Amino acid sequence: MEELEKLKLELKNLNFEYAKIKEIAPEKRGEFGRELNAKKVAILEKIKKAEEELLNEEVEAIDVTAPVGVNEKLPEVYSVFQGTKHPLMTELDKVTGIYQSMGFDVVESRQLDDEYHMFDSLNFAKEHPARDGYDTFRTEEGLIPPAHTSTMQHRVLKAYRDRLKEGGEIAVVVPGRVYRNEDVDATHEHTFYQCEGVYVSKTCTMGDMLGILREFFEKYYEQKLNIRTQPGYFPFTEPSLEFLIEKPKTLGGKKGDFLEMLGCGMIHPNVLKMAGIDPEEYHGFAWGGGIDRLVMLKYGLGDVRYFESGNLNFLKEF
Ligand code: DAH
Repeated sequence: MEELEKLKLELKNLNFEYAKIKEIAPEKRGEFGRELNAKKVAILEKIKKAEEELLNEEVEAIDVTAPVGVNEKLPEVYSVFQGTKHPLMTELDKVTGIYQSMGFDVVESRQLDDEYHMFDSLNFAKEHPARDGYDTFRTEEGLIPPAHTSTMQHRVLKAYRDRLKEGGEIAVVVPGRVYRNEDVDATHEHTFYQCEGVYVSKTCTMGDMLGILREFFEKYYEQKLNIRTQPGYFPFTEPSLEFLIEKPKTLGGKKGDFLEMLGCGMIHPNVLKMAGIDPEEYHGFAWGGGIDRLVMLKYGLGDVRYFESGNLNFLKEF
């Protein structure tokens, strides 16, 4: 540092020397100027070097994997568990674990999708107002951060359809992060998680679907539950239902306190057809619901915004 200050002072003094050129005899001015310039170049060079050295000194190597800072004395003992899993991920594992125990495959959703998988392949008619109901974001290139995990239905049906010909069935769940252009409040987030389920076979019925869903919720909340359905509307199912559970007493619910947990229904014949599955021969059902809501009920959380907040006090509670 001192070295650099000295050089800068030298440079400043040199600049004063230039002013003396007027006092020099004209025939000697050329040589005088050349000498000064040479000195200046030399000083500038030294300054550059000194600055580079300084930079190297100040940037010290850090090991981001080290449990303590490089300049700290290593403590006698230190915990290797510096963080915890995000509660949503812990719960998502439980969710997929339950479905896996029932024989479902788990497939991951995408962070960016397209118009075809978001709408067309799900039997949304072109220009139909139902498209607006999903408050989709769009990238400048026209891609869509998916507004629901149903974007994976078409892909799953195509990827697994050979199982049907082999006499088997399609049984897949798709957890994923979804995005909606909504005003954020205690019950709405622009970013949240859903889990989709897709089942297709020769003989399946809506009764099978309700059985699977009941089983799932009872396992997740570890108790018997009262369930209810009511009519819904989704272009990709016919008929479409909303699936509700009665809020358990243990979780602060009263009798008749029903909560809508997901949308579901029998897969629309057009959706099967578009994926190359003959709706005359096979039937399917599908469902999709929010993970955040599921977890909020389990732990009595009143505000969905905690999940994406990065608030350590909140995260440390899990
Ligand atoms: N994708 C729907 C939503 O986000 C939920 C849904 C409804 C998924 C019916 C389905 C279904 O698979 O069959 O609101």
